[in-house]
Amino acid sequence: MNPFRFQNPTALYYGSGQIEQHLETEVKKYGDRVLLVYGGGSIKSTGLYDKVLGILGKASITVYELPGIEPNPRLSSVNKGISICRENQVDLILAVGGGSVIDAAKAIAGGVKYEGNVWDFYTRRARAEDALPLGTILTLSATGSEMNGTSVISNLETEEKRSTSALALYPRFSFCDPANTLTVPKNQTVYGIVDMMSHVFEQYFTHTEHVMLQEQMCESLLRTIIAHAKPVLEDPANYHGREALMYCSTMALNGIISMGVEPDWACHAIEHVISAYYDIPHGGGLAIVFPNWMKHVASGKEAKFARLAVQVFDIDAKGKSEQQLAFAGIAAVRSFFDEIGAPRTLGDYGIGEERIEEMAAEAAKGWGAGTIGNFQKLTKSDIESILRMCLTK
Ligand code: NZQ
Ligand code: ZN
Repeated sequence: MNPFRFQNPTALYYGSGQIEQHLETEVKKYGDRVLLVYGGGSIKSTGLYDKVLGILGKASITVYELPGIEPNPRLSSVNKGISICRENQVDLILAVGGGSVIDAAKAIAGGVKYEGNVWDFYTRRARAEDALPLGTILTLSATGSEMNGTSVISNLETEEKRSTSALALYPRFSFCDPANTLTVPKNQTVYGIVDMMSHVFEQYFTHTEHVMLQEQMCESLLRTIIAHAKPVLEDPANYHGREALMYCSTMALNGIISMGVEPDWACHAIEHVISAYYDIPHGGGLAIVFPNWMKHVASGKEAKFARLAVQVFDIDAKGKSEQQLAFAGIAAVRSFFDEIGAPRTLGDYGIGEERIEEMAAEAAKGWGAGTIGNFQKLTKSDIESILRMCLTK
């Protein structure tokens, strides 16, 4: 295990009835002027908007609103939010939505307290040292943003989608009620499942040794997600299935399974470039990239993929070599993604080979060292090979 420091300051309220009981108290800890950040309107059609405004209204909280946060949230929306907070001396930002809404709210929270351009956080020119308090009400299980300090923002002007992480950006509190996810449409549910599995993969594929508990936590998460995915897709109102997925998505990216482990994160770096160039859903891009990354890096690392096959997909090891098991494990990931209806090739999003080389160069430069990834360091040429594999079925 590697030495590590762990600190996660987010107070989590899980399950039904928590908003009604505790939202007012949590909000009032920070003041009486709130910026409500939300997306394209799902919270209005589900009734959550009315519920939240009802609670804040009864508590005499002044509410400013920033609607219209886009999936793959834009820097321009973040700047709008920063202006509203500064003009109105907002005390707390309340993000109600999925990862995009929460990530935009984090950027606003950090940006308000920073004199320069908030994009500096994402280009590593600066780090968010301070932020306005942020609370969230999660409506989509996927990113883990409700309990981490990461924010991912797209800058349309520079065609970049980048992330930043800071302790100051963790939500002070998050309400996670599975009932608020019952209306998530099938495609977004699939993207969320792929995203949470990908977060586990990024931390599971590691060279760090003596991490038995971390490996087994990863495998349990993957098994739990797989067990509940199809029942939820068949019956979107399956509360207990949604509940399991919600808990897994939070646990997959709140820092717990990566304690003492060097994670990989190359597939996320590649996917963020694809999303930046083509504005595709994050989970959709990961469903295409991850199985091809696995095929590209498996050589010499068969033992880990063989372990995935046996421990997660229950593939019978009898009579199979380690290499055969490894490939069976990778094939099982792809088959599972096919079975839940996740995309398979870049062509599913109308993406051809035109910008493959440019995207590979952009992804390789992402970490400033010319390579990305830790389980296997990927050069520009590796990334280009993986992206080319993503063009074919
Ligand atoms: O905008 P509204 O109308 O709310 O509709 C949203 C949006 O169209 C809809 N939706 C959300 N909850 C719903 C619902 N529709 C019906 N009922 C509900 N209860 O779903 C659509 C997608 O929402 P979005 O927030 O974009 O999805 P997700 O949570 O998957 O977030 C994706 C973003 O998070 C980033 C991704 O790159 C992407 O930009 N990530 C953030 C991470 C983090 N902060 O730690 C890590 C991830 O790896 C990821 O990169
Ligand atoms: Zn992700």
